Amino acid sequence: MSFSRRAFVGSALALAACEGQGPATAAAQPARSGPLPRLRDLVPFPVGTQLVSDHLAIPSVVDLASTQFDQITTGYDLKMEYLVQPDGRLRFDGPDALAAFADANGQSLHGHTLVWYADEPEFFQRLDGRQAAFERAYDNHITTVAGRYAGRMRSWDVVNEPVTDEGRSLRESLWTRNLGQDGHFERAFHLTHEADPGALLFTNEYHLESKPHKRRTFLNLIERMLSRGVPIHGIGHQSHLLCDLPRGAVAEAMREIASLGLPIHMSEVDVSLQSERPFGSRRDREAAQIRLYQETIEAYMDLPRIQQFAYTIWGVRDAESWVRQDWYGGDHTDAPLLWDDNGLPKPTYWAVADAMRARRMR
Ligand code: XIL
Repeated sequence: MSFSRRAFVGSALALAACEGQGPATAAAQPARSGPLPRLRDLVPFPVGTQLVSDHLAIPSVVDLASTQFDQITTGYDLKMEYLVQPDGRLRFDGPDALAAFADANGQSLHGHTLVWYADEPEFFQRLDGRQAAFERAYDNHITTVAGRYAGRMRSWDVVNEPVTDEGRSLRESLWTRNLGQDGHFERAFHLTHEADPGALLFTNEYHLESKPHKRRTFLNLIERMLSRGVPIHGIGHQSHLLCDLPRGAVAEAMREIASLGLPIHMSEVDVSLQSERPFGSRRDREAAQIRLYQETIEAYMDLPRIQQFAYTIWGVRDAESWVRQDWYGGDHTDAPLLWDDNGLPKPTYWAVADAMRARRMR
């Protein structure tokens, strides 16, 4: 996620503070009780969540992550910022713990992410401009990390967020500067495929609902890379939504993304209560949030089964959500997920479960 998005959300929050016209007041959601259906049991495709190894110390997170979901995405521990030490050595205690957790619970594992513009560890920065050494280090990183989990990783986000935030061009980064725009992308996919031929390989992007031009840039990149023989097996569609996303934008994005015919991973679903414009009361925002979760489920379940790779919610409890981290905006009143700070189910959980069940009965 780019820093300009942080500024963008910050300004949006300032705007939203002067609450003005918004949608009609939301109807109060009925409280729900009784045993929680397991989301993984309600649909024919994997339902995932994102975990950080530190979260394995939180009992309610462990309980929900191990029962509600049948796929785990490593939200932080397989990023370079965790793995790569200043001297270039790699640490694997975190991802190994997450892999053991997934194995113990019979869950698939999705590795996030090998190459990201926002991850530029000191070790690689010191090689900036020394092309031969940089290439060796880049290739060694991908081969070592993907090779370590070969046979255990269902899939990888190989290159994360290759398109600029404004959406009309490809990002420049430490990786593109030293290896080339196409070079860094092609190397990463080919090396990951060589290291783990059984893993499905994705490139992953955000804002594909609210920025059709960014969606087009991303899909053009994928089509161009596929035409060059790059082993891209699926499309990562992050789906970090703000509550004022217009009705229908989710379905429109899904239709265009699905037109490539590849498996789609709705890879980082959450619906923030923040907005780009004044939107109304907290209850209006919560009602819109529920509607948007329902739209994501409906759009995903409308896909052909062969394109339903997995539907992954970006975390379990609101308390650990990334939207509350300072680098994103640090709004501790935001509540984008399905369980609250104490691990109790919210109306968003029931909305997702009901939408899954309703769609299955069609
Ligand atoms: C976030 C994680 O959730 C946080 O734990 C971490 O501190 C920062 O990154 N898009 C992405 C993810 O692809 O890697 C980001 O995840 C959220 C935005």
